Amino acid sequence: MHSNKSTSRRKFLALATTAAALPVANAMGLNNSQPSQIEPGVMPGAGRVAIITGSSRGIGAATARRLALDGYAVTINYLTNKDKAERLVQEIKAAGGRAIYHQADVADPKGVKALFDANQEAFGGVDVVVSNAGIMNTNPFADMGDEAFDRMIATNIKGSFNVLREAARRTRNGGRIICLSSSIIQMKPAGTGAYAATKAAQEMYAGVLAKELSGRRISVNAIAPGAVDTDLLRSKGTTEQLQGAAAMTPYGRLGKPEDIANTVAILCSEDGEWINGQLIYSNGGIV
Ligand SMILES: NC(=O)c1ccc[n+]([C@@H]2O[C@H](COP(=O)([O-])OP(=O)(O)OC[C@H]3O[C@@H](n4cnc5c(N)ncnc54)[C@H](OP(=O)(O)O)[C@@H]3O)[C@@H](O)[C@H]2O)c1
Repeated sequence: MHSNKSTSRRKFLALATTAAALPVANAMGLNNSQPSQIEPGVMPGAGRVAIITGSSRGIGAATARRLALDGYAVTINYLTNKDKAERLVQEIKAAGGRAIYHQADVADPKGVKALFDANQEAFGGVDVVVSNAGIMNTNPFADMGDEAFDRMIATNIKGSFNVLREAARRTRNGGRIICLSSSIIQMKPAGTGAYAATKAAQEMYAGVLAKELSGRRISVNAIAPGAVDTDLLRSKGTTEQLQGAAAMTPYGRLGKPEDIANTVAILCSEDGEWINGQLIYSNGGIV
């Protein structure tokens, strides 16, 4: 007789195995009735651990879900939305995965160190770090306030630096480090100058850190999403503006958080190893 825990673990592995097999099956022209050949033991994240900053909502939460589904133990980080982080951990655990949550403001180096310490205590180390936490304050140059500007620098530039510094020190050999840029750096819409500058920094971080970690088989990349349907986007755009952004992509839709989580999963896969020090646009063709 199996315990509830091992039953839910088996359910989780079955779900994850199916999810991992589907793209392969589709690419091979196989239909869903074909039995999966992928064994749980070779799940991409089996025995591996990921920290995702800003993962109580949006792109970070979708990334945590996806990596958990791929077999990673995940550490979920939030700033204020404890309830959302807690619910996500429960969801992952109920499906048989391993997850913890930890509050930390990425702008605070001590908080970031404590986040990595909590992960270390729970899971014994880290293989994947996704520096995702970020905020977007928009305004034309003439109207941008000092406080809004400074907070964005503290979160997006200093915060991501804090996370990447800790990642450089602690990520195990063979791991992956990813930070979040934005396709806005190509689009340059009015009012996004300061935000775009903080996102352009992520490309520099990834390119330089990839070289600094030479010899450790750690690939470091930045992902530049387009317009992704999250609180961050919805808080800044009217319905008409969101529809306009959707119409700009050849797919005629906004990005979903899962689209970016899929890109993270590709970079984290074994096949993603050779993609290193790059800025990857994942935007449905918006630019
Ligand atoms: N959505 C887009 O269209 C888009 C496009 C390009 C790039 N991006 C980038 O993708 C990343 C995620 O964006 P999103 O749209 O998913 O944002 P979101 O829905 O607003 O979620 C932001 C997440 O970051 C957390 N967070 C915010 N400030 C933090 C801090 N100082 N310390 C720790 N966590 C913090 C939030 O935690 P709480 O829930 O506790 O507040 C939340 O989990 C950002 O870096 C953003 O610049 C987004």
